[in-house]
Amino acid sequence: MPEFSERKKMTVSRFINKKTVGEKLAVLTAYDFFTARLLDQSGVDCLLVGDSVGMVLYGEKGTHPVTMEMMLAHTRAVAKGSQYALVVADMPFMSYQPSLETAIINAGRFIKESAAEAVKLEGGMEMAGTVRRIVECGIPVMGHIGMTPQSIHRFGGPKVQGRQDKSRQYLLESAQALEEAGAFSMVLELIQADTAEEITAAVHIPTIGIGAGKNCDGQVLVINDILGFYDIYTPKFVRRYANLPPLIEKAARGFVADVKSGSYPSDDESFLKKE
Ligand code: KIV
Repeated sequence: MPEFSERKKMTVSRFINKKTVGEKLAVLTAYDFFTARLLDQSGVDCLLVGDSVGMVLYGEKGTHPVTMEMMLAHTRAVAKGSQYALVVADMPFMSYQPSLETAIINAGRFIKESAAEAVKLEGGMEMAGTVRRIVECGIPVMGHIGMTPQSIHRFGGPKVQGRQDKSRQYLLESAQALEEAGAFSMVLELIQADTAEEITAAVHIPTIGIGAGKNCDGQVLVINDILGFYDIYTPKFVRRYANLPPLIEKAARGFVADVKSGSYPSDDESFLKKE
């Protein structure tokens, strides 16, 4: 990673250029100001305010209950914490599917009210028209194909996509349709590795894999997963870089013990009467 003094603000065109020069893109999700600031300082290229927030922060079973208001608030916090990384906001379930007008208005809200620099929406060739209209309004769009969580009930669970010829063909044509519609990048989620590789070679915009093998142009993971926070379900593709829960539990136990024993607060931690 370049020294901070040399580091340039990631823009959509720089993001696309990373594919041209063969530099892998590192993307992490973020949902709050302090985490965003840390990740930004760590050299992450893009902070994705994912609708995974529903599961990892709100304890929901899936992404369906996530609302525009929740996403706007989290995106705003992340944008404030990000100096260099590109901030992409995930459009929640039913914020873009009902009509083009709904999609454009809600995409615009992320730019206007939350300082997002781009939006992400799920779906293949059937969403190309929506992507095109949002892009025509001046809003960069990241696509998302494969096992798209907002359609989990249609998939019948988190099943790997692109294994059969029909699914492979659909994904390939979808990726090309999204690129043609003006998407600047796309997430490939839970896709058989050789299919993801084929898609990556077929498009000129960066593919960001999650459970899609090593040959994508970049990788994205959910921050809570890499910190060991989300232990309800750990997919095979997650790599844990830290295990924070025991540290937090130790700190909380220490606080409880000190309060109960009366050792917290000390005089140094109190405002005593001035002499
Ligand atoms: O919601 C999310 O966090 C996502 C990524 C995991 C791609 O869509």
